[in-house]
Amino acid sequence: MKEIKNNSLRLSDVSRNVTLYGWVAKKRDLGGVCFIDLRDRSGIVQLVARDGEVYDVASGLKSESVLKVSGIVMERESKNPNMETGDIEVELSSIEVLNSSSDLPFEITDDTTALEDTRLKYRYLDIRRNPIKNNLIIRHKIMMAVRKFLDQEDFVEVETPVLCKSTPEGARDYLVPSRVNKGKFYALPQSPQIFKQLLMVGGMERYFQIAKCFRDEDLRSDRQPEFTQVDLEMSFVDAEDVMSLTEKLIASIFKEVKGIDIALPLRRMKYDDAIRFYGSDKPDLRFDMKIHDVHDIFQTSDFGVFQNALGEDSSIVCIKVDGKSEEFSRKKIDFLTEYVKTYKVKGLPYVKYEGGEFTSGISKFLSDKEKQCLVEELSLKDKDILFFGADKKNIVYTAIGALRLKLGKDLGLIQKDDYQLLWVIDFPSFEWSEEEGRYLACHHPFTAPLDSDIDKLLTDKAHCYSKAYDIVINGYEAGGGSIRIHDEKVQEKMFQALELSREDIEEKFGFFVEALKYGTPPHGGLALGLDRLTMLLTGTDNIRDVIAFPKTTSASDLMSECPNTVSRSQLEELALNISVKE
Ligand code: AMO
Ligand code: AMP
Repeated sequence: MKEIKNNSLRLSDVSRNVTLYGWVAKKRDLGGVCFIDLRDRSGIVQLVARDGEVYDVASGLKSESVLKVSGIVMERESKNPNMETGDIEVELSSIEVLNSSSDLPFEITDDTTALEDTRLKYRYLDIRRNPIKNNLIIRHKIMMAVRKFLDQEDFVEVETPVLCKSTPEGARDYLVPSRVNKGKFYALPQSPQIFKQLLMVGGMERYFQIAKCFRDEDLRSDRQPEFTQVDLEMSFVDAEDVMSLTEKLIASIFKEVKGIDIALPLRRMKYDDAIRFYGSDKPDLRFDMKIHDVHDIFQTSDFGVFQNALGEDSSIVCIKVDGKSEEFSRKKIDFLTEYVKTYKVKGLPYVKYEGGEFTSGISKFLSDKEKQCLVEELSLKDKDILFFGADKKNIVYTAIGALRLKLGKDLGLIQKDDYQLLWVIDFPSFEWSEEEGRYLACHHPFTAPLDSDIDKLLTDKAHCYSKAYDIVINGYEAGGGSIRIHDEKVQEKMFQALELSREDIEEKFGFFVEALKYGTPPHGGLALGLDRLTMLLTGTDNIRDVIAFPKTTSASDLMSECPNTVSRSQLEELALNISVKE
């Protein structure tokens, strides 16, 4: 059995006889003496093979061969301060090649230039690289910290089914055909939502689970079709209780994994304010640059674009970049204009304030009064530049919010290793779906409306707010949850508000509505995205870097080549007929 970690050897081990195992990371053959970097999970130690048989074997070694070696720890003549084991080397007395390696599809180095597709095809080799291996270790540490904290807080980890009935979280379901009940399907859970609520009905009081969730949705850099949630639910709590417990959990993770102290309580920001000031329900607070509402200033504007945005459902807003007007060339502004257009605005009006004057952009359209108001309300200083958005509210805030983020990144306003956490609270209960032509649940249909808004469920959906909260870290939605509806009648009302028919409610959620009748305690909870949390703590912006065997953006596994076709007999057994159109 392997007993020594390669990376553990130090000067204090000099003269010790050791047996080591690992992979040949590097070999330098100087003729008569051969140096080998032997890698195991812990790191690297230098081996020296001099003369005779050990040298002969060493000089013939191929990269990534697997070795068992014995030798004596010696102090190095030329030390390497960049290596933890850089003070010593192991002078070999024997080498046993346990297995050799074929020629590698890419070189296993930390800063590989191999294409990601190649790395994913040979993911097991990619995992030998420090960046991926270390991310997996951090992920493990996060899971350990979660289990330790929640166990101390009296939570019980309960597993819920993976073959189940659809739970609506707003994505498409992955379906699994049933062989025994031909023509019927299970859905893979988009989250354990219904089960965890039923555990509260079941009197478990405090539940958690590190749960796999499956969502068939369009993938992005922070989404995977299967991902992991730290899912929890509590009885006899209000929103503050859940947020307070969760932020302690997050703080304990940051402390255990990164040694970082997070100041509690975290700041709370209402959803409406997050949109108004940052144009996002997940504001990145690592830099300021708030959005200003300048609608009132332009009530009698001569500028057509502003005139068209004076209606009730529109807004005129701007953001100010302090003292950097000279950095914005015509070309750069054209580039930013094209960028914001991808968020559906039609242009990007701007003005520069230089030497006490408004120059370039739309300055010729501004009246003296408007100029004066801008200077005063925005406290303009020399070389400030203002970018405007004037459009329908649902468009303009998103676009200018995206511009804010881009400027923050491009101008280097974000400090490395800064973590800004906050709660976004009081989400609307519903959001309007252009696509479906109806209101959808903003979080999910089990989220309780604010007590003051219960009556608005059926009559004033646009102004009905909920007891939902998201935890946001550096502009990422790291988790979200809510206090649930525990009254069966309110739950039915909610389903009606979502325009589900009686039959639909009965068919999809009948069992759940029935459960609510048997003494359901008030309850609430939340789920953290474990993958996103790991991304934040490892500093990667690619979710695939924190998952051992991830899927590509087209939801496939390049290594095992899945999804794939299945045999005719398997299909027949399931009574399925496939007709794929090219
Ligand atoms: P929600 O849908 O907000 O809530 O999901 C909770 C958290 O899970 C993460 N997440 C994802 N991570 C990676 N890939 C994805 N495709 C993906 N989708 C979501 C996010 C998100 O904040 N049942 C509710 C929770 C509750 O109300 O208790 C739920 O699933 O970090
Ligand atoms: P123009 O009058 O076309 O030169 O545009 C003046 C400024 O207004 C430019 O900065 C454009 O990007 C911007 N702009 C033009 N049309 C629109 C529009 N419909 N909505 C928002 N901005 C616009």
